[in-house]
This record gives sequence, structure tokens and C-alpha cells, in this order.
Amino acid sequence: MCGIVGYVGEEQATPILLEGLEKLEYRGYDSAGVAIYDGKKLEVAKAKGRLKILKDMLHGGSDLKGTIGIGHTRWATHGKPSDINSHPQTSVSGKFAVVHNGIIENYLSLKQYLMRRGVAFVSETDTEVVAQLLEYYYKGDILEAIIRVISKVEGSYALGIICEDSPNELYAVRKDSPLIVGLGQGENFIASDIPAILNKTRDICRLNDNEIVVLTRSGITVYNTDKEEISKEPEHINWDISAAEKGGYEHFMAKEIMEQPKAVRDTISPRIKDGRIVLDDITLTPEQIKEFRRIFIVACGSAYHVGVVAKYILEKMTHIPVEVDVASEFRYRDPIIDEKVLVLVISQSGETADTLAALREAKRRGARVLSIVNVVGSSIANESDDVIYTWAGPEIAVATTKAYSTQLAVAYLIAIYMAEALGTITPEEYQEYIQELETLPDKIEKILENKQDIQYFASRNFNAKDIFFIGRNLDYAMSMEGSLKLKEISYIHSDAYAAGELKHGTISLVEDGTLVVALATQQKLFDKMMSNVREVKARGALVLGLTVEENKQIEQEVDFVFYVPKTCDIMLPSLAVIPLQLFAYYVASMKGCDIDKPRNLAKSVTVE
Ligand code: AGP
Repeated sequence: MCGIVGYVGEEQATPILLEGLEKLEYRGYDSAGVAIYDGKKLEVAKAKGRLKILKDMLHGGSDLKGTIGIGHTRWATHGKPSDINSHPQTSVSGKFAVVHNGIIENYLSLKQYLMRRGVAFVSETDTEVVAQLLEYYYKGDILEAIIRVISKVEGSYALGIICEDSPNELYAVRKDSPLIVGLGQGENFIASDIPAILNKTRDICRLNDNEIVVLTRSGITVYNTDKEEISKEPEHINWDISAAEKGGYEHFMAKEIMEQPKAVRDTISPRIKDGRIVLDDITLTPEQIKEFRRIFIVACGSAYHVGVVAKYILEKMTHIPVEVDVASEFRYRDPIIDEKVLVLVISQSGETADTLAALREAKRRGARVLSIVNVVGSSIANESDDVIYTWAGPEIAVATTKAYSTQLAVAYLIAIYMAEALGTITPEEYQEYIQELETLPDKIEKILENKQDIQYFASRNFNAKDIFFIGRNLDYAMSMEGSLKLKEISYIHSDAYAAGELKHGTISLVEDGTLVVALATQQKLFDKMMSNVREVKARGALVLGLTVEENKQIEQEVDFVFYVPKTCDIMLPSLAVIPLQLFAYYVASMKGCDIDKPRNLAKSVTVE
């Protein structure tokens, strides 16, 4: 998964590209590079490592002169991170330079085809095949060459292309990888994501698959693969520039944790009118809802953890059986699906390759697909029968927080909406659920006001080597997210366990000083959880308890307690997740970890 920026205008391109790439580093940071037309030829500068290395090499961009160029930050898929495997990749004569996000799945056969015809390759990347093919097919018409290339390559791509023979035109094309066009005055841009160009223009248009855009200083032209011009509706982006910056916080993750009350409020409030849930975004009718015999929930990582919570919610409210799968497993287990199945797809980026592939498999088998997505116009959103957007705003930190919370909020909306249509909840329950839902943002706010308590506990335990998260029912679902949050940003090994399952083996790992986070928010299982707490305490564990405010008796059982405000049991995950996020954040912060860009991870995994 990588970041792409392109510029054509009157200003020096390199500083603009470097600034845009800085905003995209969350998409990948194994290496970075730029290609600029300097008035005579294409000049390429690229280097392994963080963008700063390239910036220092170019003295901030002053070394490379020219007013048209492309840039790239890489998350390696084919070919290890290295200077030569960095993008831009060029054709053998240097005439074409290409930046790419995605995977060319048939690159090896294409590479062999070209090598048999004498083309010399220098890198291990799939992307170089695109640059070489462009030169191979180029007979003077770049658009024609691009169309021929994309007819040959299989897989996913967002491509930025410049050619020495056409120094005033920047080309771009996409399939299954995100790419937007920025519209300026006397200048135009391409980028993988909006934050890269937000300080230059708020007007964009989104490319669809297999649309080729030609950018010049005076404007853009979009073509289909028949070389017919396509008109595109521009879109004005209202995000504050601060929304894509850190806003005074040390990390994007801290900012995004604190944004959750607003993000959840922004996501639910427009969908509750006069005490009723209004889902204008979807075409699903009550009659269609009544047809569903089963629901599958498919996602990856934290989005999958939302799905695990949503299973409990949907089954309790709608009485429809629900299965939850990680997307990479779903698509290969031959799921039993037909038109009476609803598949709920959850994704922040809307570009996760495993999730997108699972969505396509579900549709191929006849399912109705409803997705919960944060990025408007993303591939998963575009390919779903219905999409309900979370309005969390841009989420930059690799570890998701506000997107998780808003996905959960949408899951509640859907469950209540469906349950009313099915008549499986009474009108009184319908109103109670909606009223509770509307209190969540303020209750999240209240938890955040006490974040220093979690910070204190984290400061005493950030050197832990193994941490167990245990819970029952919805608390078990929450323990998964607590464990992942901690692992992915603090690099501390952690496990989530059904509390009742611990005694069947894993408790052998509990010894003096082992840290156990016991989630005990579910009232009906509180006593059972206290038994599990005693089990681990008896083996020397240090226990952080997490429960609702009135359960003061927990203080007799654990070493430290964090309380969350009361709400109905089924909505407690929206509150319990906040201290878990804070705990992970403070532990990682005290360990000095790279919180927004954890090692080995990328914000959106657009490769399988
Ligand atoms: C969560 O903190 C991780 N960054 C990761 O598990 C993420 O949730 C997963 O890759 C799914 O991403 P998506 O929501 O963009 O599809």
C-alpha cells in the first residue's frame, strides 16, 4: 500500500510533491522518490527509508527543478525496500516514469515476455513492468500506450505517469486502488488520498476504475478505454486542514481518540430524526429485511472486532443467525450464501484488499451487501449494494480508534433499524435503544475526562512482557480489540481470551506479576468474571478491572479499577473500548514507540 502525488502547474514541483508525500507517509514509508521533467529530460531521485532521507538528499526540493512531476511513498510488496526498488520506476530509455499503488498480479509473465524481447530490467518490482510496457507499446500516442498496458496487466493499480515526449501532461489511471484528482487554478494534482493536496485545493474529482485522466496546467480530460471523453463532477472537500493535521496533539492517534465523542455524534445524529432512525443512505426495504435468513459479517483487524460485537447485537435484537469471519478466511471457506443472506462488510479505508475480495465473493454468490465505510467513494463503498458511511473524518493513525467507534455506532443503528422492521423489539425498546445511543457521545466524553487514571496505571506497567485481556460475551469481544490495540503500537505480546476458557490451558502462562486486564461490564456475568479474576489472582496476576460505575465491589478483587458510565449492557462496548485505547496509547507512548506509524504496519492494507 503506497502513497502517490503528482503535480503540473507553474510552481516548482518538487517541494509540492514532498509536502504532499509527507501527508501520505501513513500509507507506506519503506522508501520514497520523485520524478521531475527538468525542461530537457526526466530526472529521478529516490531513496530507501523514510521520506526525510529523500528530503535531505534534495535539500528540501530545491535541487530538482521543473514544474511537472510525480512522487511516491512505498510500502513494499514485490521487492524488498531498497533504492532501486523505490518508485518512480522508469522505462529502459528513461522516457517514462511511473509511480504505482497496488499489485500487478501477472507481472512475472509480462516481465518474461519483455525480457525475451531484449528489455533489460533493473528492479524486483512489479511496477517496473508497467514502465517498460509503456515504452514497449509507445508509438507516439501516450494515451494509446496506456490503454494497451492496462489491457495487459491484471491486478490492482493506481498509476501516475509522466513521459519526456509530453512534458506538459501528467497521466493517471486506477483500478481497485484509490486515486483522486485535485483541481487548481493553472495547476492540477493527483493523489492517493485527500490530505496530500488539501492545502493546495479543496476541489477534487474521483477516478473510477479504468478511467484515464490527462492533466495539464489548464485543466483535465478523462477518457475511458475507448478513448471517449468522460465528464466528471467535481466535489468540494469541507474537511478543515486541521482535520488532517495533528491539531496540537503529539500523535494523530491521541487526536483521533479525543475526537471520538464528535465522530460518534456526527455519525448517529443525522440518522435520528424525531426519535426515529432514518437511514436515507440505504435502499434496503423492510420487506427485503424480512427475507434475510442469515447475516455474515466480514472484515479485517479492528473492523473484524466490530463485527464480533455486532454479532451479539444483531442476534439479540433481530433473532437472525449471524456469522462473523475475517475476510481472508471467508472467501476461501466456501460460505453457504444465497439471495436470502445479508453480508455486512466493515472497513475504515474501504480499500482493504482482503475485505474487497470477500465482498466480491459474497456478491458472486448472490448475497445482498451492506457496507460500513469511512472513506467516501472508496472501492468497497462503490461495490456494495448499500453503504452507510461513518463520518469520522480522516483517520491518519495506523491504529484505528474513532473509525472503530463510529463503525460500532452504525452497527447499533442497523440492528435497531432492522429489529423494528422485523418486529423483534417492542416500540418501547426501540425508543430506549435510541435514547441510550444518543447518550454515548457524552459518556465517551466523560471517560476521556478521566484519562489520567489510565495514564497512571500505564506508567506503572509499560514494561510488561505479556498482557492478557479476558472477558465474557461482549466483554470477550472487547478484549480482542484491547489486545490488538496494545500489540500493534507498543509491540508488547498480548492475548485476548474468553475468561471461562482460560482454565482450559492458557492459565498455565499466568505467574507472579502477569498483567491481566479483566473486562467485567456485562452485569449478568459480573459474578462469573469475579471468579475468573480470583483464578488468575491466585496465580500471582496483577489485575486491572474494567467495569461500570456502580460495581464498587470489584475493588475487593482487583489491583486497579477503571470505571465507565452505565448504559444498557449491549452498548457498553462503545464505552469499554475507550480505556482500552487509552491504555495502549499511554503504554506505547511511555515506551517511546512510533505510535502513528508502527513498524511493519500500514493504514490500509491494499494487498492480499
Ligand atoms: C487496526 O488498528 C489496524 N490498523 C487494522 O487491524 C485495520 O483495522 C484493518 O487492517 C482493517 O482496515 P480497514 O478498516 O481499513 O478495512
